[in-house]
Amino acid sequence: MAEKKVGIVGLGKYLPENRLTNKDLEKIVDTTEEWIESRTGIKERRIASDGEATSDMAVMAAKAALENARLKATDIGLIIVATITPDMFFPATACIVQEKLGIKGVPAFDLSVACSGFMYGIAIANQFVKSGVYKYVLVIAAEKMSSVTDWKDRSTCVLMGDGAGAAVLGEVKEGGILSVYLGADGSKGDLLKMPAGGSRLPASVSTVETRMHYLKMQGNELFRHAVRIMAEAALKATEPLGLKGDDISLVIPHQANIRILNAVAKRMGIDPAKKLYLNIDKYGNMSAASSAVALTEAVEEGRVKKGDIILLDAFGAGLTWGAIVIKW
Ligand code: ACO
Repeated sequence: MAEKKVGIVGLGKYLPENRLTNKDLEKIVDTTEEWIESRTGIKERRIASDGEATSDMAVMAAKAALENARLKATDIGLIIVATITPDMFFPATACIVQEKLGIKGVPAFDLSVACSGFMYGIAIANQFVKSGVYKYVLVIAAEKMSSVTDWKDRSTCVLMGDGAGAAVLGEVKEGGILSVYLGADGSKGDLLKMPAGGSRLPASVSTVETRMHYLKMQGNELFRHAVRIMAEAALKATEPLGLKGDDISLVIPHQANIRILNAVAKRMGIDPAKKLYLNIDKYGNMSAASSAVALTEAVEEGRVKKGDIILLDAFGAGLTWGAIVIKW
């Protein structure tokens, strides 16, 4: 029997209403509108309201994806939530989402691989659908990065934003996921981390006073690895299929920094103006949610057409990475 083809049958997104512009950030830290835009490509980002948690955004994106797929929540066999900003350590945000979607009994778990979360989620969902265990898997990537952002640290607070994207994976007649490549390098975990709040440094007066519950990043070093790893991952996912830059209709990457993405495009030999999807200007870096929202918007805007070969490519804390080729 021919192997099942698995693809994305529905997409959805949710972005909080509140916009934080570069001009607004000038009032918070010692920075300029010009520095942020020229060094990162970001013009504004969305910030969730105080009462809005990751699961709230995840549910909104999930409902939009289900509607897009013309499915009911009860059609879903498994829920995966990729996030590094869960509502709380436990229960898993995926379980909170499951309850809010009203589908008691369906397995649900979180995935903590930072910005590569949507890639890892799709990779897992692909296996479960292909093997026939579940007909439809819901992969949600949702982040409230503002909750781990140090608003006194100008080198990181200008980068992050909040939002959620979701995809429903199921069997497709044509096209679908052609290749998946994932990787990790734990030896470079120090480059991007939130030091406190876990079992190594449980929350204490001292960890709060020393601002250890916020994201810490060695931006320069990370930049170098991001360019190399994203270009390598793209190659590992496309080469086995015999695909070259020309064969790819659109690259939809994790939106970390416009300079990283342009450098990756150059290494891949693709024209960024034509084949690189960008929405970093509107949302900043939403960690796992970035590539999920980017894919959703690329499809909404008609940048992805039936038969197109698209490449999803992400890199994040861990370090982790993933690239996926899909025929639409
Ligand atoms: N406004 C003004 N000046 C600033 C700001 C700011 N917001 N932030 C830093 N600077 C200053 C620095 O202090 C430094 O000043 P100095 O030379 O006097 O020391 C100068 O600007 C240059 O700093 P760099 O860090 O060299 O700036 P760079 O051009 O590398 O840009 C940035 C920094 C944007 C963080 C970049 O390194 C980057 O994008 N790194 C990668 C981030 C990334 O990929 N993250 C991905 C994963 S995210 C995740 O997994 C959740």
